[in-house]
Amino acid sequence: MSSRMIISRANSQFMRRAALSTAARTTGVRSMSVLAKSAAPLMSQQAASRRIAPLGSRGVKQISFSAEFGPETVHERADWPVAKLQQYFKDDTFALIGYGSQGHGQGLNLRDNGLNVIVGVRKDGHSWKAAIEDGWVPGKNLFEVDEAIERGTIVMDLLSDAAQSETWPHIAPKITKGKTLYFSHGFSPVFKELTKVTPPKDVDVILVAPKGSGRTVRSLFKEGRGINSSYAVWQDVTGKAEEKAVAMAIAVGSGYVYETTFAKEVHSDLYGERGALMGGIHGMFLAQYEVLREHGHSPSEAFNETVEEATQSLYPLIGSYGMDYMYDACSTTARRGALDWSPKFKAALKPVFEELYKSVETGEETKRSLSFNSLPNYREKFEKELDEIRNLEIWRVGKEVRKLRPENQ
Ligand SMILES: NC(=O)c1ccc[n+]([C@@H]2O[C@H](COP(=O)([O-])OP(=O)(O)OC[C@H]3O[C@@H](n4cnc5c(N)ncnc54)[C@H](OP(=O)(O)O)[C@@H]3O)[C@@H](O)[C@H]2O)c1
Repeated sequence: MSSRMIISRANSQFMRRAALSTAARTTGVRSMSVLAKSAAPLMSQQAASRRIAPLGSRGVKQISFSAEFGPETVHERADWPVAKLQQYFKDDTFALIGYGSQGHGQGLNLRDNGLNVIVGVRKDGHSWKAAIEDGWVPGKNLFEVDEAIERGTIVMDLLSDAAQSETWPHIAPKITKGKTLYFSHGFSPVFKELTKVTPPKDVDVILVAPKGSGRTVRSLFKEGRGINSSYAVWQDVTGKAEEKAVAMAIAVGSGYVYETTFAKEVHSDLYGERGALMGGIHGMFLAQYEVLREHGHSPSEAFNETVEEATQSLYPLIGSYGMDYMYDACSTTARRGALDWSPKFKAALKPVFEELYKSVETGEETKRSLSFNSLPNYREKFEKELDEIRNLEIWRVGKEVRKLRPENQ
C-alpha cells in the first residue's frame, strides 16, 4: 500500500490546523452588510446583536479568504431561517421551469421549506412523469410551461442550457414586468450572441448556482446540511435583486453562499467541469491506469492504485481537512514522492488549462454545447459515448471492485 496512515500524528496536526483556521477566520473583516441591515427589522434586537457580536457566529459576514484578494461577502443559512424565508416570499409563486437534476433538487427543497412552488414542464414528457412521482399534482402545482410562467412571480429557468436558448423566443414575452427571472447558470445571458437569450429590461434577473449536482442539492438538504452556491445579479430593477438572490439561494437548499457575477460564474463553471471536476480527472485516471496495465499490473492492482484508493481513502481526507493534511496522513515515502512529482504535473497541465479557459472565454465551449445538445438525438448520442466509457476495462473493473466493499455485500 502506497499511503499508510499515521492517524494519531495526523489527528494532532488536524487539531492544530483547526485552531489556526479559526484564528484566520476571526482575523477576517466582519461587518454587517447593507443587505443584512435592511433585513434587521424582521429580526429581534437580540438576534441581530448576536449575529455581529461573537466571533465565529454564523450568518452574513465578510471573510478574507486570501489577503491578496481582500474581503468577500458570504451568507449562511443562519441568516435566513425558514420563518423569515416564508415571510419574505409570502406573496410569491416560484414557477420552476424544467425538472431535470436541478429542478428536482431545488423544487423539492423549496416545497419542504413551505414556499409556494409550482413546476412547469412539457406535458407527458420524461420530466412530467418524474414530477408526478415526486408528488407534484397536475392542475394543482404541476402545469405546462406557459401556464406555470403565467402563474409565477419568480420564473426559474431550469431547462437544460440548450433548451433555454431554443425555447427563449416563446418564453420571453411571458416574462412580464414585475416578475423575476432566475437562472442557475450564467450561460444563457452571458453568451447571448450565441443563445439569443436577452432578458427583458423591466425585470430583476438573478442567479443562484449550486456547486454540485441537483441530486446533491437534495440529499444534503435532507441530511440537514447544505450545498455551497454562488449568487449574482444581472439586472436590478427593484433595488431588491441581491437580497432576493441570497434569500433564494438559502430557500433552494444552500448552506453557504458567495457572491459572483454571471460572467465569472459561467466561465469558472464551464472550466471547472471540463477540468479537475470531470474531464481532467477522467483523463488522469485513464492515463495512470493504462500505463500500469501496459507495465503488466493486474486490473485489480491498477484500479485500486488509481481510483479506489483515491475516492475511498485520500480524496475524502482532502475534502474534510485539506491537501496538507492528506499529505501528512500518508507515509513519508508517499509524501516525498508526491511533493516531488506534483510540480511536474502542474507544469504539464497548466498549458492545457490555459487552452481550456480560452476556449470557454471565447464561447467555443458554448457553441459546442449548444450545437450538440440541440440535436434531436442528443440523448442517444450521449448514451453511446457513456456506454463506451462504461465498457472501458477500468470502469468494468471498478464495478466489480465496488461489489467487494463489505458494505455492498
Ligand atoms: N445538473 C447540474 O449538476 C447543474 C449544476 C448547477 C447548475 N446547473 C444548471 O441548472 C440548469 C438546469 O440544469 P439540469 O441539469 O437540471 O437540467 P437538464 O437535466 O439538462 O434539463 C432538463 C430539463 O430541460 C427540459 N427540456 C430539454 N429540452 C427541452 C425543450 N426543447 N423544451 C422544453 N423542455 C426541454 C427537460 O424536459 P423533458 O424531460 O420534457 O425533456 C427537463 O425538464 C442549467 O442551466 C444548468 O447549467 C446544473
